[in-house]
Amino acid sequence: MKVEQILSQFQATGVETCFHDRHIVAQIYAGLDGRNWRLRDYESRGGYQALRKILGLDGGPGMTPDQVVAEVKASGLRGRGGAGFPTGLKWSFMPKNYNGPKYLVCNSDEGEPGTFKDRWCLERDPHRFLEGLLIAAWAVGIEGVWIYLRDEYHGCRAILERELARLQADPPCALPVIELRRGAGAYICGEESAMIESIEGKRGIVRAKPPLPALQGLFGQPTVINNVITLASVPIIMAKGAAFYKDFGMGRSTGTLPFQITGNIKQGGLVERAFGSVSYTHLTLPTTPYV
Ligand SMILES: Cc1cc2nc3c(=O)[nH]c(=O)nc-3n(C[C@H](O)[C@H](O)[C@H](O)COP(=O)(O)O)c2cc1C
Repeated sequence: MKVEQILSQFQATGVETCFHDRHIVAQIYAGLDGRNWRLRDYESRGGYQALRKILGLDGGPGMTPDQVVAEVKASGLRGRGGAGFPTGLKWSFMPKNYNGPKYLVCNSDEGEPGTFKDRWCLERDPHRFLEGLLIAAWAVGIEGVWIYLRDEYHGCRAILERELARLQADPPCALPVIELRRGAGAYICGEESAMIESIEGKRGIVRAKPPLPALQGLFGQPTVINNVITLASVPIIMAKGAAFYKDFGMGRSTGTLPFQITGNIKQGGLVERAFGSVSYTHLTLPTTPYV
């Protein structure tokens, strides 16, 4: 039995392994040291090259918005906000020939207890997220972007304000209007329709569906909503291709996932690995007995 073999090998050696004999290592958080988060650092890691490739600014033929959506669909990327909805499919629901503004809302509310994957990304690699956001906005024809940021994330807010200003001073392409919105401090405001209500200045209460936000979302306009890590996964897909991304993970769960490890365990932290990996070293031993 392959599964049993792999698990027993892991238990014997403690060495990370996987069920699919392919890549397992970090992609989104790779090469970060907590200090190399500025625009020039990201560019030196190849940042904004995916966006330039799409727009044909690298001397290549460029891509159409439909091709970008198709590539994200082919990658199998699913939303990292919790529901796991296929991202490319969600983008394709947005009307194409719409006579009015379309909006993108980035869900950075991160209210689930014990979660910190979005905060890590925003603090340590904000431009990876911003590049993904710009690619999504371009592919879907977005006019206005709202980043709905958990209000307790003061550090993220300071970084995002500064890095957005840097981006606006030297933009890689025409930028949509981007507004950074402080969250309302209620867990329910992380739910997409309650978040829309909150951005509109109302109390955060879940809206009845239909209509889907893609048809009638923020201020009644077609709106796509994505999590920070969903967007931060997009530059890798566009730079290296859907096939490369799919080679991490297994079945319908493609790519890598940041595992947020907290609680009464040997070593907490954030571990990004491909789906199908076995890397539970951190989890095995509680430091103190459970009470
Ligand atoms: C009660 C509730 C709270 C939620 N909180 C969050 C959150 O803090 N961050 C987030 O990204 N998604 C959250 N979601 C999921 C969002 O409604 C939505 O599915 C997600 O932001 C879509 O982005 P994705 O497709 O990129 O995952 C929550 C859902 C529910 C039902």
